[in-house]
Amino acid sequence: MPNDWDKASQLARQARSVVVLSGAGMSADSGVPTFRDAQSGLWERFKPEQLATEDAFRSNPSMVWTWYVWRAVLVNSVEPHIGHNYIGAWQRYLAGIEGSLTVATQNVDDLHERGGAQKVLHLHGSLHQYHCLDCHKAAAFDPAHTGIRPDQQFHRDNVLSAVDCPHCDSGLLRPGVVWFGESLPEPAFQTAIDALRKADLVVVVGSSGLVQPSASLPFLGQDAGAAVLEINPTPTELSNKADVYLGSTAAMAIPEMLAGLLT
Ligand code: APR
Repeated sequence: MPNDWDKASQLARQARSVVVLSGAGMSADSGVPTFRDAQSGLWERFKPEQLATEDAFRSNPSMVWTWYVWRAVLVNSVEPHIGHNYIGAWQRYLAGIEGSLTVATQNVDDLHERGGAQKVLHLHGSLHQYHCLDCHKAAAFDPAHTGIRPDQQFHRDNVLSAVDCPHCDSGLLRPGVVWFGESLPEPAFQTAIDALRKADLVVVVGSSGLVQPSASLPFLGQDAGAAVLEINPTPTELSNKADVYLGSTAAMAIPEMLAGLLT
């Protein structure tokens, strides 16, 4: 009987049309804390739902803005890990044999891109793009200019001031992320669905599977005939429905699973 690691390697070797669905655990090995594992400093007292909504931003713009600026500074200070690099390499390998690999991520960072993946679908938007809460126009903002450090601890009295929109009189800049209650970016979501319908393998890595509609995507692939492989050190709702569950981290499991194929 092959063990789960052998099964994972075999699925990877056979697959020609792959979708990688990643969540915050994918970035954890680069040093970006996940949402539902312990938060640091001030933020451990807040649930993501209390920070990641338009209502939260409107009622306390400085605090929510500071949280996102801090995350952007943190992301800019870290590097993609070996798992990101292997996903980029796997995408190039499959493109070279007329296959395909689509990365659809709930992560708002750019670590997949920096790890070499192309055309990453950002289902929950991007931390690195900003627009006005009211007039919706895009605007440039560099979090490095705030002086915030990745290791900074916050108190209620040392948060940043929110930033006025340069285009209109009334609005504040907000990060280009999808907040609770908002729709997912339609082109990215639809492209992910199209890829899942054609996939023969779906790799779900580092997501608690608690936030819809992204959490339903593995099942869409499975219903369309793909094998589902989950990588997560902590089992989720998906784990016993997946064809293979690897109880391991992204940085360990992805290179291990692809070692025979790419090296
Ligand atoms: N490798 C793989 N998985 C890991 C690792 C790791 N090194 N470390 C932690 N994990 C797993 C955790 O066990 C957990 O199941 O990553 C998952 C992270 O879960 P969440 O923090 O809930 O992240 P995610 O599923 O991406 O959250 C979805 O919620 O707050 C919103 O918009 C935000 O995109 C986010 C969405």
